[in-house]
Amino acid sequence: MMNLVFVLACALASLASSSSFASAALVEHSFHVQNLTINRLCKSQVITAVNGSLPGPILHVKEGDSLVVHVFNKSPYNLTIHWHGVFQLLTGWYDGPEYTTQCPIRPGSSFTYRFTITGQEGTLWWHAHIKWLRATVHGALIVKPRAGRSYPFPKPHREVPIILGELWNENVLDVEDEALATGGGPKISDAYMINGRPGDRYPCSTDDTLKLKVEKGKTYLLRIINAALNSILFFKIANHKMKVVAVDASYTNPYVTDVVVLAQGQTADVLIIADQTPGRYYMAASPYVSATGVKFSNTFTTGIIEYKRSKQSKPIMPILPVYNDTPTAHRFFTNLTGLLTGPFWSGVPDKIDERMFVTVGLGLVPCDAHGGTSCLGPLGQRVASSMNNVSLQFPTKLSLLEAFYRNVGGIYTTDFPDNPPLRFDYTNPNNRLNQELIMTSKSTKVKKVKFNATVEIVLQNTALIGTENHPMHLHGLSFFVLAQGFGNFDPARDSKKFNLVNPQEINNIPVPVGGWSVIRFRANNPGVWLMHCHLDLHVSWGLAMVFVVENGPTPSSRLPPPPPDFPKC
Ligand code: C2O
Repeated sequence: MMNLVFVLACALASLASSSSFASAALVEHSFHVQNLTINRLCKSQVITAVNGSLPGPILHVKEGDSLVVHVFNKSPYNLTIHWHGVFQLLTGWYDGPEYTTQCPIRPGSSFTYRFTITGQEGTLWWHAHIKWLRATVHGALIVKPRAGRSYPFPKPHREVPIILGELWNENVLDVEDEALATGGGPKISDAYMINGRPGDRYPCSTDDTLKLKVEKGKTYLLRIINAALNSILFFKIANHKMKVVAVDASYTNPYVTDVVVLAQGQTADVLIIADQTPGRYYMAASPYVSATGVKFSNTFTTGIIEYKRSKQSKPIMPILPVYNDTPTAHRFFTNLTGLLTGPFWSGVPDKIDERMFVTVGLGLVPCDAHGGTSCLGPLGQRVASSMNNVSLQFPTKLSLLEAFYRNVGGIYTTDFPDNPPLRFDYTNPNNRLNQELIMTSKSTKVKKVKFNATVEIVLQNTALIGTENHPMHLHGLSFFVLAQGFGNFDPARDSKKFNLVNPQEINNIPVPVGGWSVIRFRANNPGVWLMHCHLDLHVSWGLAMVFVVENGPTPSSRLPPPPPDFPKC
C-alpha cells in the first residue's frame, strides 16, 4: 500500500513538472539605485542609475514566469519603477507610476515588486516613473516564449538589445524643475545614445561607441527600445534592411524597411541578416521632430556593426532622414499589422461600450496659477498640456489606486469628459493661441469603466500652441490601432478606413502631428491605469488621464489587497 501511494505521488509529480505550469520560474533581481559619476562628452556628470550601469540590468524571463525585483533606493530622490507594457493582470499595485498606483519609495527605503508576465512575448522594458528620473533609470525586459513554444519566425543566431537614450550634461531633475519654474521649454539634451554610449560622432566618445560583431550569413534579432526622454528617433543601419517582427511585445506580420521609427517608450523587434560585403557599417539614430519652432539637439548617435574577418575600414554611414520627415515616420507607424497567427491574438472587439473623443495637445495655465511667478510661455502665461482640456494633477496624499481600493473620497473625481468642452477646428493653425480655447486648468478627473467594457477612443491632436506628434501610452492594457490620419477626424469618412481584421496591437500610439488615431481595447484588468504622453516634458505639464477599471463579478476579476509593505505617502 505504502509503495503504491509513493508510486502514485511520483507519477503525479512528474506529470505536474511536465505541464506548462511547472515550467514557469521565479526570476529574482535586486536593483540598487544610486547616484554615480560618469564621464561622457568630455565632462563628468552625476546620474542616477541601477546597479551602477547605464542602461541598467537586462531582465530575461519566459512568458508565464514571475518576476520579483527588490528595489533599494539609495539615491537622494523619491523613486518608483514601472514595468512598461507589462499587463499587470490583478497586480496593479506593482505598476509603478508615482501617485497613480503607488506612493514613492523614499530615499533609504526599499520595496519589492512581484508580478507574473502572461499573454505577451517580445521586448518590454522597465523605467523609473517619477519626474524625469527615467532618463537614466531604465533597462530592457525581454520576454521569450515559454518551454515548448517558439518564435513565429526563424530562430536568430543571436539577440541584441539596442536601447536608445538621451543624455544631459546637467542633472535631469534640475532641467525639469527649471522648465516647470519658468513655465517655458526645457534645456535640450546634449546627446543621444545607443546602450548608454553617445558614439564616435560626439566629442570624447570614440571609445564610447557600441560595437556589434556579426558573422556573414547569420541572422540577428535586434530588440530596439526607445528610452529617450523627449525624442522620437529614426534608426537605420547602412546597407542593411530590417524586418520588423514585433512591436511593444506583440507580434506583427513581417515588415521589411530600411528605417525604423520609434516614439518615446516604443519597442520593435527586428531581424537583420549580415548579407553584405564583410566590412564595417554604422547603425545610427537621429531625432524626428514634428513640431515647428521647437529647440532640439540636431545630432545623431552611432554604433558600429563589424563583420568578423573584415579589414579595419571606415564604417559606411546610412543616410538618415531629415529631422522633420513626417512622411517617413507616418509610413512606418501605419504600415505595421498584427499577426493573426500569433499565440495571443484575441481579435478586435466589435461592440463598443464606451466611445470617447479626446483632444491631446498643449495649452496654457494662467501665470499666477499654482504659485507661478516667472512665465516664459506664450502670451506671458505658463505652458500646460491637457486631454479634453483637463490637465492632470497627480495627488500627493494617497495614490489613486489606494483611493479606489479603499474607497477614499476627495482624491479624484469621476467626471473626466468623454468629449472636449467645445468642438472646434482642432488642427487649424488659425486657432493657434486662440484665447477662448487655449486656457486649461489642473484637476484630478478619472474615467470610470466597467470590468470588461470595450472602449474606443479617437485621439485628436490640437494646434492651440502648435501641432506635434504625441505618443500616447496606456498602462496595464494594450489596444488595437484601427486607423490614423491627418487633420480633423471625420467619423463618416474615416471610420471606413478602420482595420478591424489585423490591426497592430500596441500600448503606445504616436498620434500623428496635426492628426488623429483611433484605438480600441477591452478593459479586462481591474485597477487604475494611467494614459499619458510618453514625451516626458508633456507629462510634467499634465498631458495624462486615468482609467479606473472596476472590479468584475468573480474573485478572479477583483483586485487583491495591496502588499503589507506598500510605500506610504
Ligand atoms: Cu513607459 Cu507611464 O510609462
